[in-house]
Amino acid sequence: MEFSEIVQRRHSVKSYDPEQSISDEELRELFDEVVLSPSSFNLQHWTFIAVREPAMKQQLKDAAWGQSQMENCSVAILVCGKLDAYKDAPEIYKGTPGRIQEIMLPKIQKFYEGKPQIQRDEAIRSASLAAMTLMYSATSRGWATCPMIGFDPEAVSRLLNLTPNLIPVMFAVLGRQKDPPRPRSYRHPVEKVVRLNTLDGPGLTGMPHPSNKPDPAPMPAGA
Ligand SMILES: Cc1cc2nc3c(=O)[nH]c(=O)nc-3n(C[C@H](O)[C@H](O)[C@H](O)COP(=O)(O)O)c2cc1C
Repeated sequence: MEFSEIVQRRHSVKSYDPEQSISDEELRELFDEVVLSPSSFNLQHWTFIAVREPAMKQQLKDAAWGQSQMENCSVAILVCGKLDAYKDAPEIYKGTPGRIQEIMLPKIQKFYEGKPQIQRDEAIRSASLAAMTLMYSATSRGWATCPMIGFDPEAVSRLLNLTPNLIPVMFAVLGRQKDPPRPRSYRHPVEKVVRLNTLDGPGLTGMPHPSNKPDPAPMPAGA
């Protein structure tokens, strides 16, 4: 499947056939691609928990405002952000030349240590990029997906035994779509969301920024 077709095909699907299952091998193939996602300093601030067990999915549904896709999907994958991923730097950089390690390891430590906001931002950024790879990889293999943040993070952390260094960033549920796809939901026009050079610059089509547009001329009387 061409990449643009994968992008067009991906929708957030809410209705799944609960009889469909996903094997370890299929999950393995997906995650072999997911781990190729980018992350700052290549720290890979992510951990995934794949839940297929029906009783656990039902408990997750209860923690997710009763959203049925959590229970009917083939697998509910919690994408976690790893707050202390910077501590993995020695392992990640051990194959690089000594002079690179001498530069990078102190730099990474200085960037993250004692900075909870940066640790959290980075965990959310990297985990979100990995979640997107997961959804596109799944779509390319015929799985429907839905990203989800509609859940109680504390209840989910408890249910899945998360340690304090891991935060639940989002679920991605995967399954076989039951109902026909809904029409694509509204998107802002590209002219509105892409600006050239500066925020008040022109759009791609040369359209002036809305705030720079002159007010329309008043309608002539009697028109
Ligand atoms: C971070 C995030 C959280 C979301 N949480 C939920 C959710 O809890 N339940 C749900 O049904 N859809 C959820 N969605 C799906 C959005 O509603 C959906 O992406 C959006 O309406 C655009 O539709 P599309 O994905 O089909 O293009 C979430 C999407 C994102 C990116």
